[in-house]
Amino acid sequence: MTAPLIDPFARAISYLRVSVTDRCDFRCTYCMTEHMQFLPKKELLTLEELDRLCSAFVGLGVEKLRITGGEPLVRRGIMTFFEAMARHLETGALKELTLTTNGSQLKRFAADLAACGVRRVNVSLDTLDDAKFARITRWGRLAQVQEGIAAARDAGLRVKINVVALKGVNEDELFPIVEWCADQGHDLTFIEVMPMGDMGEEDRIDQYWSLKDLRARLAERYSLTDLAERSGGPARYVRLEETGQKIGFITPLSHNFCESCNRVRLTCTGELYMCLGQEDRADLRAPLRASDDDAALEDAIRAAIAKKPKGHDFDYSRQQVAGQVTRHMSHTGG
Ligand code: GTP
Ligand code: 5AD
Ligand code: SF4
Repeated sequence: MTAPLIDPFARAISYLRVSVTDRCDFRCTYCMTEHMQFLPKKELLTLEELDRLCSAFVGLGVEKLRITGGEPLVRRGIMTFFEAMARHLETGALKELTLTTNGSQLKRFAADLAACGVRRVNVSLDTLDDAKFARITRWGRLAQVQEGIAAARDAGLRVKINVVALKGVNEDELFPIVEWCADQGHDLTFIEVMPMGDMGEEDRIDQYWSLKDLRARLAERYSLTDLAERSGGPARYVRLEETGQKIGFITPLSHNFCESCNRVRLTCTGELYMCLGQEDRADLRAPLRASDDDAALEDAIRAAIAKKPKGHDFDYSRQQVAGQVTRHMSHTGG
């Protein structure tokens, strides 16, 4: 029995998020600039290398694997990678194989994902208004994403909608979004906007909508009950008694959740980021390519986890952005 991965703050690491590509077919304003420079394709790990890396993590006790990007479903051949990961579900070593997606390609891939053992998908969707959707994503088509979501549901996948709460952008849609999710039977999570990436024309403070405020708005119409359950992610949940719906809140700004962090992030170039909000990272590509034997790779993973920082330093409380990270969200997959 191998020793579990434990970080310096006694947190067990059982959740790996893997960004399989930095590319995306959208350019959400809070995530990317319009003219993003993507990595040359030759920099990317092959899908076989990603398989070997992820399998090493599973061997070290990782039980939850979330595939992200950029947009994971735009990586060519990505289904062969999901098929490869499915074998860890079959042995029981992996408890959950899942993905976070913008939904644009779900219509094409939903049935294949379900066949690989994926049971739920998280879909980013910040508005139900066509024009606003096109503005936020810079050119995305809402109808295409909604068709993707419907395909996911038809394939038997549970859908969680991720909404980044944006002041002055989707504030007016709080109740329509909640009602739409109740109607469609989707789970729903709100996320506070984080100061990451090249902020260009965007102003995160102006757009910051604290989920404390959002929650207070919800409480004007619904009776909220706090739930103790966690999904293995950072969200805290409430139930709306009138609809029975469960709603998650991811609050990196207004309520830091780092003390219970259980995850690390692998990029498509083989770097392991220990925290979304810090630059600390380790190169796993060199030990991966140096030998076919996994011993050195496993040592490199353990050494990296032994340096995991305590948490992020994102802070807007002094009316200015602190703890900003210039790395784009798409690099480490959110
Ligand atoms: P569940 O398995 O459904 O709980 O998913 P999850 O919340 O772990 O994953 P998801 O990809 O839906 O995460 C939603 C967003 O939450 C991410 O894209 C990030 O914006 C944010 N998030 C997730 N993990 C962390 C974290 O460790 N730190 C911070 N600051 N934000 C995080
Ligand atoms: N702050 C908060 N969430 C973000 N996401 C992308 N950029 C940001 C940001 N600056 C979210 C997306 C998606 C997930 C991958 O990360 O909406 O749900
Ligand atoms: Fe693409 Fe997701 Fe970033 Fe939007 S938030 S640009 S969909 S990676």
